[in-house]
Amino acid sequence: MKTTLRALWLVFATTVRASPLQSLLCLAETASRALSALNPLFYGLFASGAVRQDAAMLLAAVVGLICTTAVRMIFEIIGTSARLRQMDTIGFVFQHRIAKIMGSIETLDHQESPALLDKLQMFRDYAGSLAGALNSILGLINTVVWSATSLIVAITADWRLIILVLLGLPRILLTRMTVRWDQEVEDEGSPHNRRANELVDLCHRVDAGAEIRVFGLAPELRRIIRRSTRQWQLPTIRKAGRYMLVDLINGLVYYGAAAAVLGWMIIDTFAGRVDVQAITIAITALGTLQVMTSNIVGTTKWAAQSIRSATRFVWLQDYARTVHDRFTGDRKPPPKLQIGIRFENVSFRYAGATRNAITDLTLDLAPGQVVALVGENGAGKSTLVKLLTGMYAPTSGRILIDGIDLADLDVTAWRQRCTGAFQDHANFEFTAAETVGLGALDRMEDTDAIKRALYDGAGENVLKALPNGLATQLGTRWPKGIGLSGGQWQRLAIARGMMRRRPLLLALDEPTSALDAATENALFERYAAATRETGRRGGITLLVTHRFSTVAAADTVVVLSNGQIAESGTHTYLLRRQGAYAELYGLQARGYS
Ligand SMILES: Nc1ncnc2c1ncn2[C@@H]1O[C@H](COP(=O)(O)OP(=O)(O)OP(=O)(O)O)[C@@H](O)[C@H]1O
Ligand SMILES: [Mg+2]
Repeated sequence: MKTTLRALWLVFATTVRASPLQSLLCLAETASRALSALNPLFYGLFASGAVRQDAAMLLAAVVGLICTTAVRMIFEIIGTSARLRQMDTIGFVFQHRIAKIMGSIETLDHQESPALLDKLQMFRDYAGSLAGALNSILGLINTVVWSATSLIVAITADWRLIILVLLGLPRILLTRMTVRWDQEVEDEGSPHNRRANELVDLCHRVDAGAEIRVFGLAPELRRIIRRSTRQWQLPTIRKAGRYMLVDLINGLVYYGAAAAVLGWMIIDTFAGRVDVQAITIAITALGTLQVMTSNIVGTTKWAAQSIRSATRFVWLQDYARTVHDRFTGDRKPPPKLQIGIRFENVSFRYAGATRNAITDLTLDLAPGQVVALVGENGAGKSTLVKLLTGMYAPTSGRILIDGIDLADLDVTAWRQRCTGAFQDHANFEFTAAETVGLGALDRMEDTDAIKRALYDGAGENVLKALPNGLATQLGTRWPKGIGLSGGQWQRLAIARGMMRRRPLLLALDEPTSALDAATENALFERYAAATRETGRRGGITLLVTHRFSTVAAADTVVVLSNGQIAESGTHTYLLRRQGAYAELYGLQARGYS
């Protein structure tokens, strides 16, 4: 209940804040509905005037009808256009707010947990109804106002019409149940809908195009999409059957009773106990009462759908806040590392995983050091980098930055002192200058800084190949956009990482995996310079790599295996030790020779 009220308040406050005048004008529609409910009065007056041959009554009825119709139409035009404009405005406001919330969530868990993803999918599916939330709530208010006015008019004409009102009540009360069915259908269908959507998306993706064609996956993908869509729609189809049954039973009861009440009134009219004005109002009201019940049910469901969307928005806000509350740290990172970074008995398990990615790991990284992290696929190297940048919090243990627990640090301030290139880097399809410049927003316009970062990341050849230099639009999906190879994108990602100067942590997660040998060599010479610079300023360079040729220059090599340290030390020490590192190194050396 509290959440529903918050959802209602959210819609109301957002709407009114977005445009107070338009919100006010929307009420004109409500007034128009109330006026339209007065029509039976004028019909009754007209019928009575005709029977009594009373010209004044006839004139009053016609003038009344014309005047209310004219005013009603004016109100309706003003109200409807305000409501539609308001809907567009609110749609944009909510889109903007959703993007802001999604971008502000400190961790990545919500992008990986199926339960959260299903919720987000539902949220996206029905986000449109957020824009129409005020619309639907106003629709409900309009219907209630119109119905109340119609009821008063009808019951004052003849008390028996109250029986029809009472017969309409069960259907309205059943709406509570049908609204619950709607919610169940949405919850049940969401995972299947998400799967279908993602597979449709996959079929459109350029990076999946070659494999889909070579392996002939299209029919199989279509089959899964069809199956998921069927599973998604099945609850809706089942629900439609139940709705039909409810409507049928209600309709039969209502129309049976309506025929009886009307017959009773007609007998009384012939007997002179009911006047012609009352029977005219009753006949007109009969249709109105029937439409009224349907309208109340329809608008209630519409409003409930919007409230559910608003409730999901509230849930997203709460989720973002819960994550935010876990990052209560407000201590600033030191200007320069004096002690270094320490992993202290750190264990970490991804949400939903059955085993740890990192287990009871203790590791010291001294200031100014270049630390190479090696190990087989899945050993936990990238996980360590993500833990260090605060993308996830350790399940147990601590990460100390110069003696301060990372949980006590202001995570945003800490991230501002980190930089690097991630294994799953993004291909930002902007201009080349922007793609690189994003690495330091305060220097995005600084062409010299961008060129220098490109040089440090061995990306100057990428620049030379671009027709408009830094101004070239990247990505073939955009007008005049240029396509880049995987290695070229990777070099731009490294350059982006080089934009931020004086980092405390330079994390390079397999920066050269897609690079050719010449570029790799050039890059490492420049890395050496960049890492010396980082080291001089008390920073730490963490280099994750599978290429042992680059590891030798590191101050310390850490070999990870199954989320634990298998061995660590200098390259020379580890070779002498004749352990896992020496074996892997020997294998690669033989492979290259
Ligand atoms: N988002 C995730 N959710 C659940 N488990 C994950 C996730 N990412 C990684 N893992 C698991 O955590 C373990 C460590 O993965 P990680 O990506 O850190 O390995 P890595 O050493 O970087 O491997 P690679 O050399 O292939 O990049 C693996 O067992 C992997 O299956
Ligand atoms: Mg990795």
